[in-house]
Amino acid sequence: MGYNVAVVGATGVVGNEMLQILHETDFPVDEVHALASAQSVGKEVSFGEEVTLKVEDLASFDFEGIHIALFSAGAEVSGTYAPKAAAAGAVVIDNSSRWRMDPEVPLVVPEVNGEALEQVRARNIIANPNCSTIQLVMALKPLHDLARIRRVAVATYQSVSGAGKAAMDELFEQTKSIYAGQRKEPEVFPKPIAFNLIPHIDRFLEDDFTKEEWKMRVETKKILDPDIEVVATCVRVPVFVGHSEAVFVEFAEPVDLDDARNALYNFDGLAVVDRPERGEYVTPVECVGEHAVFVSRIRQDPTVPYGLAFWVVADNLRKGAALNAVQIAHALVERGLV
Ligand SMILES: NC(=O)c1ccc[n+]([C@@H]2O[C@H](COP(=O)([O-])OP(=O)(O)OC[C@H]3O[C@@H](n4cnc5c(N)ncnc54)[C@H](OP(=O)(O)O)[C@@H]3O)[C@@H](O)[C@H]2O)c1
Repeated sequence: MGYNVAVVGATGVVGNEMLQILHETDFPVDEVHALASAQSVGKEVSFGEEVTLKVEDLASFDFEGIHIALFSAGAEVSGTYAPKAAAAGAVVIDNSSRWRMDPEVPLVVPEVNGEALEQVRARNIIANPNCSTIQLVMALKPLHDLARIRRVAVATYQSVSGAGKAAMDELFEQTKSIYAGQRKEPEVFPKPIAFNLIPHIDRFLEDDFTKEEWKMRVETKKILDPDIEVVATCVRVPVFVGHSEAVFVEFAEPVDLDDARNALYNFDGLAVVDRPERGEYVTPVECVGEHAVFVSRIRQDPTVPYGLAFWVVADNLRKGAALNAVQIAHALVERGLV
């Protein structure tokens, strides 16, 4: 059987990847609809190399007959239109932050907590976690199964594509302007991003953490284990695609370094690249277009009783967003939930 699929935000960087990955992974489609705002109606987007789709207006689109709606157009759009699509019978897979912490909405990374998909019928909406959370929990899951994790400290190095197309354009234009001896004022980011980095992603909260840092904490708890404590510092860096994380994990019990390495190595979706003496560790540029989450620089943390430190890199547009969403769609089909 084939499915009717709608991609909301099809002209954006994540929506574009969603269409490509649906095609690359042979998702069984009958019809594919590309949706965006009224200003994009009639534009063309690619679905694979041979098919182009004409963009339709989300505001007037009828979701009747759509089996799966992949949303990637921001929290406000998801807040308004995801319930409408769900009421019309579509299962919504939402990339925005709008529904992630709703107790009736499963927050899913298929390799980590795919069983949570069984709760889909409560609202007909499934949330895709934040990009930084996805790659973090991918690395934490096999370790937590090995020896109970108590606390995680993480510093992120997040690429500009995590903030959408306009943010990528800003890094490009600002970099060019500096070489031309000119000055281009920031519009998307709060400070210049070219040749700089900014420890400020999303807004500041009352406790002085940013909302991005809060998301990493609460989403990790919801997906993996409410008893795990997470403290994060999230930093935007002048990299186009690929998020990196320096991760420090404290366990409640002893953990052997070789056992940890093996557990990471054997976990579906992870790739361990870790021979630093031969220059084998992964940087963001090397993960672009890849499906795996890469773990490098795994080592014992000698400053706590039971601790590990490592480096995690993933393509934020793929596993951090579009790939995870499409994997959820495949998992729904495999579980007979759509
Ligand atoms: N980039 C990432 O790594 C990443 C990771 C995880 C989650 N996300 C989430 O994914 C979403 C999209 O991100 P992005 O990076 O793809 O942004 P983007 O490149 O700025 O694209 C935004 C998309 O949303 C559409 N849109 C905006 N307002 C709309 C409206 N009122 N009605 C219909 N469509 C509308 C845009 O259509 P027009 O072209 O017609 O304006 C465009 O297709 C956001 O919620 C973001 O938080 C992104």
